[in-house]
Amino acid sequence: MRAVQTRKNKKRVALKSRKLVLRMVLLVCLQAGSLAHAGSLYNEPISPIPDPINDKPAITELGNKLFHDARFSSDKTIACASCHSLVSGGMDGKPVSIGVESRQGNINAPTVFNSSLNFKQFWDGRAANLMEQIDGPIHSKHEMNSSWPAIVSIIQGDPSYQAMFTRSYSDGVTVNNIKHAIVTFESSLLTPNSRFDQYLKGDKTALSKDEVAGYELFKVYGCVSCHQGVNIGGNLFQKLGIVHEYVFTQLGSNNRDLGRFNITKKEEDKYFFKVPSLRNIALTAPYLHDGSEQTLEGVVAKMMYYQLGVPSTKEDRTLIVKYLKTLTGEYNGKLLK
Ligand code: HEC
Ligand code: HEC
Repeated sequence: MRAVQTRKNKKRVALKSRKLVLRMVLLVCLQAGSLAHAGSLYNEPISPIPDPINDKPAITELGNKLFHDARFSSDKTIACASCHSLVSGGMDGKPVSIGVESRQGNINAPTVFNSSLNFKQFWDGRAANLMEQIDGPIHSKHEMNSSWPAIVSIIQGDPSYQAMFTRSYSDGVTVNNIKHAIVTFESSLLTPNSRFDQYLKGDKTALSKDEVAGYELFKVYGCVSCHQGVNIGGNLFQKLGIVHEYVFTQLGSNNRDLGRFNITKKEEDKYFFKVPSLRNIALTAPYLHDGSEQTLEGVVAKMMYYQLGVPSTKEDRTLIVKYLKTLTGEYNGKLLK
């Protein structure tokens, strides 16, 4: 009898502190103005991914070719697609990326699928948009280690590229047009029609009972205060370790990525990262900016502890993972695998 009482009491206390933390997190996010705009059409904090509008097929095709061209890297082995494979989750499956001459980078590659829906690019948001983002990998010593003059000259020496550029751009091969073609292609990399999106659009049979229960927990626990909107993330910065200080396991203290602080140099921005999209999350292990987490089970447990500070049962975490697995969408009409 007493054991039951204590358990009940504990649960009550846990619930109370959970509510407190939730209120705190919600407040922060409401201030960011994000929840107010998220998915209002469906009366849910998340809205379905729209179908891609392919109104520039010739430029999209050119962008696709550029995205897959390894000749643009200094040792001719690395294309954008080497680290953002479109036959899987739009990333490379490694904790940190490997670039030219097998050089190891220092951060996990995010997916390029749906990246056009993010409010900023990169984990620390240092690129305002996809056009700006491209300069990063082109110049990075441990990615493509190249330069625009080198790339322009390769393209100018290739008659098939010449023809494609002349067809679509009056001023032919320019850095701006190269970027524009890649960005147009990236904007076509939307993955609509996940089972969860079918559910949001009104097909209540698209999810199992457990998956719906997982979505309810995702909302009740407060995951949705950070992961929301059309991309279920990608629309605000939040601190990793907002409730409990995050322990950096993979990179070691010397290599800690300081997140937003890298750009703003403001103490209060340390360890703030762009909240990642959870679209196709079942396909994009390993997780977190340092690639330190291999499984969804593991990352959900970390989120519960570091981001929400709530005790959680294995049963709840399992249901949330079941929900996360419904977020896999279609690319070119085929379910991603
Ligand atoms: C060597 C591997 C590598 C190559 C090559 C590479 N990327 Fe990336 N990409 C990464 C990594 C790692 C990040 C994360 C870097 C960061 O946040 O600091 C990233 C981030 C991105 C992002 C931001 C996504 C987001 O949600 O923030 C986009 C978009 C992107 N890359 C597109 C490209 C394009 C286009 C090219 C080719 C011009 C390219 N990448 C080449 C590894 C690579
Ligand atoms: C306070 C904001 C916040 C809350 C609440 C939150 N997250 Fe996160 N989540 C983040 C941030 C920030 C990251 C990226 C951290 C990093 O890698 O540095 C992240 C990363 C993740 C990732 C890994 C994504 C990837 O591509 O590596 C998953 C999965 C995830 N969260 C799921 C959840 C779930 C499930 C919940 C609820 C139990 C939750 N999150 C609650 C902010 C939050």
